[in-house]
Amino acid sequence: MQRRDFIGMCAASCALAAREALAAGNLTPRLYTRAQLTDGRGQPLRAASLVAGRNYIFHYPFESTPCFLLNLGRPTVRDVQLKTENGSLYRWAGGVGANRAIVGYSAICAHRMSYPTPQISFISFREKSTASGTMRPNTIHCCSEHSEYDPAAGGKVLAGPAPQPLAAILLEHDPGSDALHAVGTLGGEMFNAFFAKFEFKLAIDYGSDKTRQRVADRAVVLELGQFCKQQVRC
Ligand code: FES
Repeated sequence: MQRRDFIGMCAASCALAAREALAAGNLTPRLYTRAQLTDGRGQPLRAASLVAGRNYIFHYPFESTPCFLLNLGRPTVRDVQLKTENGSLYRWAGGVGANRAIVGYSAICAHRMSYPTPQISFISFREKSTASGTMRPNTIHCCSEHSEYDPAAGGKVLAGPAPQPLAAILLEHDPGSDALHAVGTLGGEMFNAFFAKFEFKLAIDYGSDKTRQRVADRAVVLELGQFCKQQVRC
């Protein structure tokens, strides 16, 4: 093959890849209010206070949309390329804090939107596999239909029927004060469908005026066991 033909072929395939990326649509972060994460007494939460492997819940970017805050206790993967159900591409940069081990995700399952309520939760992070072997360790597992997500890799789907990763919550960590802020989301948000499907239940749990209300400048972080009476294990 002539050198000129070879260069022409490379240029054509690069153009095709670029056209495909544009067609897929690259997702950029969606910024919301910058909210400081606090403990249950309203004091600024310190990243060092997060126990590795424990499930923490806060609500963001709306008063009724639950999110997981996790200290994975190990470094996360950097620059993970992910794709939403509709084919939009995006890149998750990794966790924050020491070892980049702290991550945040929407706790609304990407399959049929099972989510932690004050009464019960079918979805949670699990460090250990179960005796039945239905799940891998160190995953966010939804017991509704066994979708499984990798919190160390942007919420990527590892198993089950979920058609896209969990939407990531963008966190900022201040190394000086050890404070954490939530600033936005990245990935396939499902908030409109979530409000439409659970409007009645959300109004009971949070109040109809609060359901779609944006979080202001603070979001309270609780352990999942404090927020929710019963955690389903599968
Ligand atoms: S709702 Fe989570 S797997 Fe179906």
